[in-house]
Amino acid sequence: MELAIVAVLFSSLLSTALAFDPCADSSDLSVIPIYGKCSPFNPPKPASSLINTVMKLASKDPERVSYLSSLVAAPPQAARKGGVVPIAPGQQVLNIGNYVLRAKIGNPGQLLFMVLDTSSDAAWVPCSGCTGCAASSAVFTPNASSTYSSLDCSVPECTQVRGVSCTATDAATSCSFNQSYGGGSSFSATLSHDTLWLANDAIQNYAFGCINSVSGGSIPPQGLLGMGRGSMSLLSQSGSLYSGVFSYCLPSFKSYYFSGSLKLGPLGQPKNIRTTPLLKNPHRPSLYYVNLTGVSIGKVQVPIAPEILAFDPNTGAGTIIDSGTVITRFVQPIYSAIRVEFRKQVKGPFSSLGAFDTCFSATNEDIAPPVVLHFTGMDLVLPMENSLIHSSSGSLACLAMAAAPNNVNSVLNVIANLQQQNLRILFDTANSRLGIARELCN
Ligand SMILES: *[C@@H]1O[C@H](CO)[C@@H](O)[C@H](O)[C@H]1NC(C)=O
Ligand SMILES: *[C@@H]1O[C@H](CO)[C@@H](O)[C@H](O)[C@H]1NC(C)=O
Ligand SMILES: *[C@@H]1O[C@H](CO)[C@@H](O)[C@H](O)[C@H]1NC(C)=O
Repeated sequence: MELAIVAVLFSSLLSTALAFDPCADSSDLSVIPIYGKCSPFNPPKPASSLINTVMKLASKDPERVSYLSSLVAAPPQAARKGGVVPIAPGQQVLNIGNYVLRAKIGNPGQLLFMVLDTSSDAAWVPCSGCTGCAASSAVFTPNASSTYSSLDCSVPECTQVRGVSCTATDAATSCSFNQSYGGGSSFSATLSHDTLWLANDAIQNYAFGCINSVSGGSIPPQGLLGMGRGSMSLLSQSGSLYSGVFSYCLPSFKSYYFSGSLKLGPLGQPKNIRTTPLLKNPHRPSLYYVNLTGVSIGKVQVPIAPEILAFDPNTGAGTIIDSGTVITRFVQPIYSAIRVEFRKQVKGPFSSLGAFDTCFSATNEDIAPPVVLHFTGMDLVLPMENSLIHSSSGSLACLAMAAAPNNVNSVLNVIANLQQQNLRILFDTANSRLGIARELCN
């Protein structure tokens, strides 16, 4: 099954989010960009240049990457109790959402554009009566759904939720929890069940947080759907419906008429696709780790000590594929080595532009070599549009990658969404593999 995804820039578009579906007549199956005509978060003013938009989106990357890194150093999760699983991976959830999925909750279904996040598991939406939620955006109205139920402290799921207020297993008290979101905001929600609709599929009794109040900042205005590998994610809660398989194709950032897709389940997935094993980190079950074994610039293998690339579940070191980080980030020694080799093969002088430190005259672009990511069993030759980005005037081309933020636990490399454009990324948890195939999804 295929679904629409929309890309959005919440920080500046929050107040313009409208409670309607601009492309209700179009197929369910397409993906729409942030400035695309089908995005409900379509900005009121003409979109700024691509590079400014990317830089604005990427300005939250360091926070997200630090957060992802801090999580992987966390202690193992408590053992599952009675077959029930934690609702959220931690007290804090991630601070960014670039792609949104068209979903409905309840009976009859209420339309919400929920952030698709491959690095978290929980789902939550703003509910009617919420204080501090985006006033102009759609919310979920539990009273208008015949199948909604809030869960109380006696249900097993409640004992697994982080930030929960229940002190006893009390059936008279609703299961409420508080979580922080990014650095500045926090929300309070009630654990609930209702039907989740994705295109024509109905997933009954989906456990999600119904948000009652938000303080200290903003959250994705219409909620978030965790697509991670962990126990409360869409794949886990949908049981055998999707057989643990989904894929997406993110269209070019440049495209106004965005039409990539999210495909849920094994049907219709590419048959001939190169794959690499997914690695499991028990300390961070949501994340999709892969084994990055090297990087080449053109035909030259960048000298990187294997120890720096190695996957280590204890420290969290390694490489993940993420839908919520904008620019691919390598730990400092890896990025430096890549930059040195790239600069050797392209004509300078080099300058910086925002997060990008290797910009050069676009007239030398034809000699820019492709960046090749080597994974166990699979090489990914990045298309040029996935490795270079242009300045607003078009006179400069920049290597569209950066070093991970220089924080205490900078051990994680993140393959981000700018580098995933026009590729189909297959997440096959049943066979524990990740596939990548070229596909034009614009
Ligand atoms: C939903 O209905 C209940 C019971 O009728 C009422 O107490 C509550 O205020 C309603 N909530 C909203 C958000 O309308
Ligand atoms: C959540 O925060 C609110 C407001 O700060 C507080 O009243 C409530 O008790 C908190 N609930 C939990 C579950 O910690
Ligand atoms: C990753 O690849 C390297 C190089 O082939 C190999 O030595 C290592 O065992 C692999 N790591 C995992 C976790 O598969």
